[in-house]
Amino acid sequence: MYNYEKPVNYQSGIVFRFEFQTLITVRPKVTYYGHSCFSVDLGGKNILFDPFISPNPQASIIDVSTLMPDVILITHGHGDHVADAVSIAKQSNAQVIAPYEITEWLQKQGVENCFPMNTGGSINLGFATVKLVKAEHSSSFPDGSYAGDAVGFVIKSTHTCFYYAGDTALTLDMQLIPIQFKLDFAFLPLGDNFTMGVVDAIGAAKLIDCNRIIGMHFDTFPPISIDHQEAHELFKKADVHLTLPIINQTIEL
Ligand code: NI
Ligand code: MN
Repeated sequence: MYNYEKPVNYQSGIVFRFEFQTLITVRPKVTYYGHSCFSVDLGGKNILFDPFISPNPQASIIDVSTLMPDVILITHGHGDHVADAVSIAKQSNAQVIAPYEITEWLQKQGVENCFPMNTGGSINLGFATVKLVKAEHSSSFPDGSYAGDAVGFVIKSTHTCFYYAGDTALTLDMQLIPIQFKLDFAFLPLGDNFTMGVVDAIGAAKLIDCNRIIGMHFDTFPPISIDHQEAHELFKKADVHLTLPIINQTIEL
């Protein structure tokens, strides 16, 4: 189509790319279930992150028994990330991908479809690949026992690539992500106190080279309540688009 001996017609290249993408792109649909729990629908395959719904009064509108993900990804063992993991895994028979210690803990509770991994590992699920990346955070189970290391996830499909940070501080390890991946959007915690706050989340957005951020881990408990207007202003000043999701709402990215 192009004659490479002639200068490339830049404008027609843009038009071509636009039409191509509208034809084939499946836009991810993100639904918020409160705190750090989201589902991401990638063209019919549904991934659920860090299920914590039934103990969260703000998410009482969500009927946990209706959630039927294909895959559940869990970043660490804290109660506010695993509370509904067993029940949703059992009712959906979703494949649970998590650090090794967490899949062991789930198997003891009768969850069969577990896939243990650890930081640095990748798995190809067919419709997407999932890579476990470092998070700077602690990890233990609700009874205080050891839950391995906390992780984040980078998910890459044909149509999109995104980062789910889990609970983490701002850390220079985030710089490794854009070396390997071109992120379209990212879920970052920004409630402060237990994770990074708004200012550090903006720093993280810069390190991962992503200007489309969905905030999480805010407003669930008093120590992590944030000033929404201030958060939006700070992100805007940094030229990063912030979405503070609303529980039970689905957004298309
Ligand atoms: Ni945590
Ligand atoms: Mn947490």
